[in-house]
Amino acid sequence: MLEKGKGTRIVVIGTGFVGSSYAYALLNQEVVDELVLLDLNKEKAEGDAMDLNHGMPFGAPMKIWAGSYDDCKDADIVVITAGANQAPGETRLDLIEKNAKIFHTIVGAVMSSGFDGIFVIATNPVDILSYATWKFSGLPKERVIGSGTILDTARFRFLLGQHFKVDSRNVHAYIMGEHGDTELPIWSHADIAGKPILSYSQIDMKELDDIFMKVRDAAYHIIERKGATYYGIAMGLVRLTKAILRNENSVLTISTLLEGEYGLNDVYIGVPAVINRQGVREIIDLELNDEEHEKLHHSATVLQQASKPVND
Ligand code: LAC
Repeated sequence: MLEKGKGTRIVVIGTGFVGSSYAYALLNQEVVDELVLLDLNKEKAEGDAMDLNHGMPFGAPMKIWAGSYDDCKDADIVVITAGANQAPGETRLDLIEKNAKIFHTIVGAVMSSGFDGIFVIATNPVDILSYATWKFSGLPKERVIGSGTILDTARFRFLLGQHFKVDSRNVHAYIMGEHGDTELPIWSHADIAGKPILSYSQIDMKELDDIFMKVRDAAYHIIERKGATYYGIAMGLVRLTKAILRNENSVLTISTLLEGEYGLNDVYIGVPAVINRQGVREIIDLELNDEEHEKLHHSATVLQQASKPVND
């Protein structure tokens, strides 16, 4: 964990599209003092470190290098983006087998370094792999955080902002549940400037449903066009990183372990939670309507059933 006066260090495991975009965003937003890149393909990690370092004179000084698992010992945060990503038409849950295997190795290697910080997981299926990381690492749940529906919520706020012609930062609306096909919109707590969206006179529920479908299926539509998604998730990971390192106590819809909240247990799933330097400070247990409650429980059941081969 962070010692007095010590610079902050982040280790990124996986320097594919997401990992390298995250590293680039960290450099440009001047978030951290030390950034270590790890990849099975060492040359890729070295090339990314060189390329990022050469941009340093245009930004603020920091240390970036291609390292090893030993560098995790003094890391404040280890971010795992390594693994296969969705092929066109493939669901995130289809990735379980291949990605769970590598996670056992990765988490074991990180913990063997003496790591005692916070894990942030982005590899899909992120809810199941966050649960696996919590199990494999033995760290307290508050220090194993999945990116969850942080990007889905951002997509939701962006599209609602476009629809209502307001800055998306003034739209407060959450996507909860699986980061995947069973995620759900929380209309009962969606507002613009404090006015509930469902109370706006000109709303058309069909249009709002279409907006949600666009959010839920966004990754498929992007993958069809460019083969992968990476900028949005990378910026979401930087947002989460800042909330941790700056001890913000800000609310983000990350994936965390439920132990009774929303009537759910023993599942990592996307919920609004307060994030600070210790990780997940607390889960915000919203009053959901019956439809939302039922859909969240369905999402949790899908995740628990899908994770059986991995987490039992
Ligand atoms: C997406 C990936 C991060 O939703 O799952 O773009």
